Amino acid sequence: MTLAEARALFPVLERLAYLNAGTFGPLARPTLDAMTRELAADAERGRQGKEYFERMLDLRERVRAALAALVGAEPVQVALTASTTDGCNIVTAGLDLSPEDEVVTTAEEHFGLIGALHASGARVVVVEAEPDAIAAAVTPNTRLLALSQVLWTSGRALPVRELRERTGVPVLVDGAQSVGAVPVDARGLDFLTISGQKWLCGPDATGALVVAEPERLRVARPSYFAQSAYEPTGAFTPRQGAARFDPGWTPPASLCGLLAALETRPEWWHDRARAAAGRLRELLERRVEVVPGDATLVAFGHEDPAGLVARLAEAGVVVREIPGTGLVRASCGWWTSDEDLDRLVGAL
Ligand SMILES: Cc1ncc(COP(=O)(O)O)c(C=O)c1O
Repeated sequence: MTLAEARALFPVLERLAYLNAGTFGPLARPTLDAMTRELAADAERGRQGKEYFERMLDLRERVRAALAALVGAEPVQVALTASTTDGCNIVTAGLDLSPEDEVVTTAEEHFGLIGALHASGARVVVVEAEPDAIAAAVTPNTRLLALSQVLWTSGRALPVRELRERTGVPVLVDGAQSVGAVPVDARGLDFLTISGQKWLCGPDATGALVVAEPERLRVARPSYFAQSAYEPTGAFTPRQGAARFDPGWTPPASLCGLLAALETRPEWWHDRARAAAGRLRELLERRVEVVPGDATLVAFGHEDPAGLVARLAEAGVVVREIPGTGLVRASCGWWTSDEDLDRLVGAL
């Protein structure tokens, strides 16, 4: 697949320089077609019958396997969630933390992670997003490091595996801005979240949680999928593997859409995204203050971020503001062309 062929898959790119995959990736035609076909079939055959349920369960396993393969995990380590936020809450609830426990996180995390930390009951220790500061915050009471692999504010990467090894403390990795954007390997990470709707260009409310050792985390929010057998009291035998954490029924159309989105990626997806982000950094550095970063998000300062985002939108360039930071953020994906970048820089 060439870049031109790849771009032709995404209707939105016909009109817009769409640089917003850090929020929502663009939807490709094969993804939309797969979803539409599934919805039409639901309407015609009715959502009923053994065959229907078996097909849905099979679809779930196919998505689980595809997401596992993406990050070097085993399917049995993958729970199908609706978001990164879901994954973070599953982990923090399942660890049964108390006020004596500490979780170490950074000042640049998304609410999808820190909201779950706050609700966990543990003491949340917030430090600068620097490896040494994170390691120095660990005490004998630290039960968890909770870190983004790529910070949503700047695109800067944190050495999450190294921090896990250095501190010996289990790590919950927020993969919302890494999985699909840069190569990610779940091995050596205790928990890793995946957002399907961002860099994987999947449907809304799709995602996953990779759990290295599912049996060691309590099922704190059981859905029907949590059990392989249960008593009238609600006591249950957990299903094998991380499927016990599946928080609920994903619409079959979304499962089909996510599978199609994963199949649509070209082999060179990470190379092109990295090159586009590198080029954008270079172009912007001549004009504005660019925040240092390593991944496919490029953030730069502006005196009126909201105004600039609105002005760029009028020029057909989609970027976003990072509230409270004075930063505007552009997301470069494997579908991003040099013309998209020129359009952004030209409209500044
Ligand atoms: C770093 C980070 N974590 C979590 C989230 C929330 O993701 P989700 O909507 O999949 O819960 C985002 C979304 O922008 C994010 O950037």
